[in-house]
Amino acid sequence: MTRVSLWSMDASADGELDLRARRAASDAASSVSVASEIRDFWDADAAVYDTSPSHYPRRPQEQAAWAGALRRLLPEPPATVMDVGAGTGFLSLLLAAQGYAVTAVDLSPGMLARLQAKAADRDLSIEVVEAEAVTPPPGDFDAVVERHLLWTLPDPAQALTAWREAAPKGRLVVVEGSWGSTWATGTEGWRAKARGLAGRVRVSEPGHHDHYSDRVQAALPHAQGMSPDEAVSLVQASPWGQARLERLRDVEWALVEGRGIVDELLGTHPRWAVVAGS
Ligand SMILES: C[S@@+](CC[C@H](N)C(=O)[O-])C[C@H]1O[C@@H](n2cnc3c(N)ncnc32)[C@H](O)[C@@H]1O
Repeated sequence: MTRVSLWSMDASADGELDLRARRAASDAASSVSVASEIRDFWDADAAVYDTSPSHYPRRPQEQAAWAGALRRLLPEPPATVMDVGAGTGFLSLLLAAQGYAVTAVDLSPGMLARLQAKAADRDLSIEVVEAEAVTPPPGDFDAVVERHLLWTLPDPAQALTAWREAAPKGRLVVVEGSWGSTWATGTEGWRAKARGLAGRVRVSEPGHHDHYSDRVQAALPHAQGMSPDEAVSLVQASPWGQARLERLRDVEWALVEGRGIVDELLGTHPRWAVVAGS
């Protein structure tokens, strides 16, 4: 009796182990295929990404506002900075132009090729690394920055842990924005709704070549965007610890400045940064 029962326990333990191993293998395969679908998406997007002024602001006052915000939030140049999910290089180029030693990391060779072409045009030196956000190059960076990456990571907490290992004594600057109207109340809520309506009647650049598939969206915990509350909580729960939140009002102002009365009245969605580390 005992032997039978022991045998059946072993058999069920083996069965469970086997099932767990198979589940782990299938999870790993599915996360690899999600990652490759995300990489293919951005490789295809590289051709259109910079056409959207909110992706790649070109006006001098907007570039200067972003440069000023980065300088305010980061240690002084020539600090070493890893820009994760660097894309076509909006942050990396602004940083390199200010004398930072920049390492640009991205999983999409297509996006990185655009970054490299722009850096070469401007005679800027930027180290480029094709890698997953969760496996950044080893280093002892003075700072890690990212803009608009966290929302598209299947496991942002794992990425934050990996970045802390790459900058154990450094600073983290996470730059995100609150799109849509769900975040806003009162007057800001009405302005956000009005911007949404205006966006429907205005002819604007598409910005992206497509949307993520349902499968990719289902794999991303923040596919619909990340609120300041979620970003601060995520950073504070990570090895970066205590964080502060800054609204980038100078960037918002520069974005509508000089665009005419309608845009100034409608305003723009909030840009903000979560800063942690030393
Ligand atoms: C919305 S774009 C932002 C690009 C750039 N940071 C900017 O501010 O314009 C997101 C970027 O993250 C990259 N990306 C997405 N998932 C990634 C991952 N798991 N690891 C590294 N890069 C990733 C994409 O290839 C793309 O270049």
